[in-house]
Amino acid sequence: MRKKNPAPNPQFISFPFLGFRYPRLLLWVSGLLLAISCSELPKQSSQPSLHEAQAAADYVGEQVCASCHQLEFQHWSHTAHANIFQQATAQTLAARSCEACHGPGSEHLINPTDLNRIVAFTRRSLTPIKQQNAICLQCHRGGKRIHWPGSSHQNNDLSCSDCHNPMAKLSRQGLLTENSINQTCFNCHQQQRAEFRKRSHMPLPEGKMSCVDCHNPHGSANSALLNALTINQLCYRCHSEKRGPFIWEHAPVRENCLNCHQAHGSNHESLLVTTRPFLCQSCHSNRGHPNDLLTTGQLPGGSLPDARLMNRSCQNCHLQVHGSNHPSGVRFHR
Ligand code: HEC
Ligand code: HEC
Ligand code: HEC
Ligand code: HEC
Ligand code: HEC
Ligand code: HEC
Ligand code: HEC
Ligand code: HEC
Ligand code: HEC
Ligand code: HEC
Repeated sequence: MRKKNPAPNPQFISFPFLGFRYPRLLLWVSGLLLAISCSELPKQSSQPSLHEAQAAADYVGEQVCASCHQLEFQHWSHTAHANIFQQATAQTLAARSCEACHGPGSEHLINPTDLNRIVAFTRRSLTPIKQQNAICLQCHRGGKRIHWPGSSHQNNDLSCSDCHNPMAKLSRQGLLTENSINQTCFNCHQQQRAEFRKRSHMPLPEGKMSCVDCHNPHGSANSALLNALTINQLCYRCHSEKRGPFIWEHAPVRENCLNCHQAHGSNHESLLVTTRPFLCQSCHSNRGHPNDLLTTGQLPGGSLPDARLMNRSCQNCHLQVHGSNHPSGVRFHR
């Protein structure tokens, strides 16, 4: 059973405000004195801003909210927040339940249709994104969100509620807006959705991984919100055999896997950026190679078809492109 919220007892309700309100009061008094002394100062607007409404409001308790928002209350009661907040010590923010996120609600009760009187997170909300996020970050600062300030999502004015919907348990974990991580991201990242549908792709649509295996949507120390220090370190995490060490290293592999591979998907095999031999030839001009193409007979279907145009092209001979450990593997032949 849900714990009943304490009745609005003035002694309790005003207590957590003391530290916050007292300096405001001082400000008000000095402001008032100032207003009296210089009568030209503009009069205060009669319509309270959200900030003013919030400062004036008191907590009313979740039962009051539930009396009008029955459906929201029902859906919410299955979430992680509902479970945890239920056990919170009285007078902590978590014990405020609905009002931990939506702010004190007494002003909202006076005029529910005036969205200036309640912290809201939906599209029509009048609460600035920065304030919305600050509310969540009170309890969720740090950890995976250590790089949230300055991340491209933060810079592009995303709110926590673009990806999270704490009002219902729509996903197994993480209170997401969709039933999976990938679906949540695809809502905005259509191009990446297309990339994962290409002929060769990371097994993400197959459910073997999700965007957060490689990205931290809350921000990271690397570019593109990657959750590893370098691209290669990211790839080695799952393809550790490519890490080596190798006696004979192939320079572009050490430098960056994306010299040859796409990260999400490609219409060439093995997520390659282009087909062989063009891939290899984009860096290796064939001058001096013992097997240069010289005659039309060397084309596929000719009298002596060239190995570079058949099967695995250059890799018919240079098999170990990621590096070789064979004593005579200097040309990656074995
Ligand atoms: C007297 C009934 C009533 C009570 C009690 C009430 N609300 Fe509301 N609330 C409404 C109505 C009606 C609306 C819709 C206003 C509109 O559609 O313009 C609303 C809107 C909201 C919204 C904005 C929804 C949006 O579109 O973003 C939020 C958030 C909200 N209420 C939260 C609360 C919370 C939290 C409490 C408890 C502190 C609460 N309400 C108590 C009637 C109530
Ligand atoms: C953990 C923070 C949090 C708590 C606790 C919370 N809400 Fe919300 N609420 C949100 C967010 C975020 C949204 C916006 C969801 C969206 O994008 O649709 C929201 C949306 C709403 C809306 C708008 C309609 C909707 O569902 O989108 C109402 C009404 C509302 N909340 C009422 C409540 C009530 C009543 C409670 C307590 C039973 C409550 N909220 C508890 C964060 C919270
Ligand atoms: C009063 C503190 C508080 C506030 C405010 C708050 N949360 Fe939480 N939240 C918690 C606690 C406690 C948990 C459960 C423990 C944990 O997983 O860290 C939690 C869990 C979560 C989870 C993980 C749920 C899961 O199923 O794993 C998400 C996601 C989340 N909160 C998002 C939000 C968002 C978004 C907001 C703002 C709209 C918000 N929280 C506001 C305290 C808070
Ligand atoms: C671009 C989408 C996106 C945005 C924006 C976003 N999140 Fe998340 N968040 C996720 C995803 C996806 C997960 C699940 C990841 C996982 O399980 O590792 C998650 C997980 C979480 C969790 C639970 C796991 C943990 O880290 O403890 C919390 C709490 C959370 N987010 C809070 C927030 C807060 C607070 C904000 C706003 C400052 C925010 N998120 C903004 C996508 C987002
Ligand atoms: C509400 C829309 C929205 C959602 C949902 C969203 N993103 Fe984004 N994302 C953006 C915007 C806007 C940018 C910045 C502009 C751009 O680069 O396209 C961005 C940028 C990125 C970038 C590139 C960052 C950079 O610095 O180049 C990555 C990676 C990314 N998002 C991953 C994710 C992941 C993973 C998810 C799901 C957990 C997600 N996004 C969900 C809107 C969204
Ligand atoms: C196997 C790891 C991996 C997975 C899984 C992954 N990404 Fe990426 N993603 C990358 C890498 C690596 C880059 C950096 C590409 C670069 O630097 O050119 C990147 C770049 C991006 C960018 C920046 C624009 C671009 O294409 O360069 C966005 C946006 C993005 N990813 C979104 C997503 C989304 C959304 C998902 C999930 C549907 C996802 N990624 C899954 C590795 C991954
Ligand atoms: C979270 C683990 C994970 C990470 C990180 C990861 N991969 Fe993969 N990768 C896989 C899995 C799983 C497969 C599928 C293997 C299979 O089907 O046998 C795969 C397949 C591949 C394939 C073969 C695709 C095909 O069609 O044959 C290539 C190439 C590849 N990954 C390159 C990369 C590169 C480059 C990176 C770094 C940007 C990377 N991977 C990061 C898990 C990962
Ligand atoms: C010089 C170009 C090049 C670079 C750089 C490169 N690869 Fe590859 N990779 C290939 C080619 C060509 C294939 C397909 C032929 C084959 O299977 O050897 C391939 C295939 C793969 C495969 C699938 C087949 C297998 O061997 O498991 C994986 C996984 C892979 N690469 C991972 C990586 C990783 C991780 C990196 C970075 C450390 C990387 N590649 C860097 C050219 C490259
Ligand atoms: C991004 C550029 C790049 C791509 C793409 C590339 N290589 Fe290389 N490759 C290099 C560099 C740089 C070296 C080192 C050259 C040196 O040490 O003189 C090298 C060395 C080699 C060597 C050894 C040469 C020697 O002198 O010992 C062979 C063989 C080779 N690559 C084959 C391939 C094949 C086959 C492919 C296609 C699958 C390929 N390379 C794709 C840049 C590339
Ligand atoms: C029929 C086998 C075969 C094929 C196919 C082949 N190579 Fe070679 N390649 C060799 C042999 C053998 C050597 C060693 C020659 C030497 O040591 O003098 C060599 C040497 C090289 C070298 C290092 C020395 C040099 O001449 O620059 C590079 C780079 C190279 N190959 C790239 C390629 C590329 C790129 C392709 C595809 C366009 C390719 N090879 C296709 C057999 C082959």
